[in-house]
Amino acid sequence: MAVSGTNSGRYGDLPLILDRSGPEALHRQVGAAIRAGIRSGRLAVGTRLPPTRTMAAELGVSRGVVVEAYQQLIAEGYLTGRTGGYTTVAEWPRHVAAEPAAPATPGPDLRVDFGYGRADVASFPRQTWLRSIRRVMVETPGDRFLYSTGQGVVEVRTALADYLNRVRGTAAHPDTVLICNGYAQAVTLLIAVLARRGARRLAVEDPSSDDDARPIAAAAGMEVVGIPVGPDGVDVAALERSDADLVILTPSHQWPTGGVLSAQARAAVLHWADRRGALVVEDDYDAEYRYDRQPVGAMQGLAPERVVYAGSASKTLAPGLRLGWLVLPRHLVADVAAAKVLADRGSPALEQLSFADFLARGEFDRHLRRMRPVYRRRRDALLAALAARLPDLEPAGIAAGLHLVAWLPPDLDEAAVVAAAARHGVAVHGVTPYRMARTGPGGLVFGYSSIGERAITTGVDLLADAVAEVRSRA
Ligand SMILES: Cc1ncc(COP(=O)(O)O)c(C=O)c1O
Repeated sequence: MAVSGTNSGRYGDLPLILDRSGPEALHRQVGAAIRAGIRSGRLAVGTRLPPTRTMAAELGVSRGVVVEAYQQLIAEGYLTGRTGGYTTVAEWPRHVAAEPAAPATPGPDLRVDFGYGRADVASFPRQTWLRSIRRVMVETPGDRFLYSTGQGVVEVRTALADYLNRVRGTAAHPDTVLICNGYAQAVTLLIAVLARRGARRLAVEDPSSDDDARPIAAAAGMEVVGIPVGPDGVDVAALERSDADLVILTPSHQWPTGGVLSAQARAAVLHWADRRGALVVEDDYDAEYRYDRQPVGAMQGLAPERVVYAGSASKTLAPGLRLGWLVLPRHLVADVAAAKVLADRGSPALEQLSFADFLARGEFDRHLRRMRPVYRRRRDALLAALAARLPDLEPAGIAAGLHLVAWLPPDLDEAAVVAAAARHGVAVHGVTPYRMARTGPGGLVFGYSSIGERAITTGVDLLADAVAEVRSRA
């Protein structure tokens, strides 16, 4: 039996499912559900619980069961009760270990997950990937499975250089390509090398992803500064004032806000880097997906000795492959390859050789051609649902990628919307946690790559209910 939110203003939401055939006594089950409700914040301090008689009738148990549950929780300090008065949720007892703040990602009630946009792994091209693996296993001489150089096997470096020069307009040569375990390792290696060469200050876009370069640079003793991002990407004037030795940019599709850096801004960034002797890292994480026109070419092609190009299979094939690549200025190749050898003796040969075969046979292009319309339909479904149900949210950015930011109107508090969404079964991230400045307009990051159109519409419906709830409480 589930009793939920029957009288939510007064009792709070209290989902209670009793297992009458299980070994756990009923009063313990009722107590555990209330305790969990208090810990998660679902039952806020001061919430009145239903009178024992009412609660017992709703649950179909004897009043003694509820009395015992309440008394136990009063004894533990979760509840306070006065004779003849209501039982209420106590001030948070200091001796009770606080649970982490209500997570943005809901637990078992999760219905729609707008989490990060990663490749839809359900669409991983298993058959063609398997054919590539099989060909490698049949045709590759044994010595190709010995330790490789830190740069990776030449087959994949050649195939990638061809692909990137053709599709992303890079100026890559097999000698300047390095294979690593995703972008996360790419920045780890680069930062280690550059810190050793004296780099002291890293500039990152603000907002930007918070779980790769920033903590790594801080751990390497570098100062990390945030450069504000506008609708067209990073604020170049602020970068010029930043005194940074190194900047990481997502110029083709700013993560998360979705802008694209203009040609003038790119030129200005490169002039700045030249003047300072600084380095630009171009995180080209999802540039394969542009839905309205050809993607803008990579910056690296303009200045291959100033720009490190970083790519990843996480948005195109699967993040679990841990497959990424760098195109490096020549003066960095040996040091980054040495750092890679030190880190793990090089990426696994079988995956590299398989990816080389996959690329060289055009399977990567075919897979992307197949996926682009799928992701585009999901993005369109999201935009249509937002326009219909939440028209005062303002979608940002270009028609590209696997995620979308929508700005919230000023009356909506981002954290309150994220928490209410979680209560309604929708996982969605706010923009603010990705801001270094921690202030700025509120917004939501919708990853739409791994959910079908119908679920997207349902998710926005549930989110609209959550937003209505937030507004009704304001
Ligand atoms: C901004 C950004 N860069 C790069 C990546 C790729 O990271 P990795 O290759 O370590 O999975 C992601 C992953 O989703 C990302 O969001």
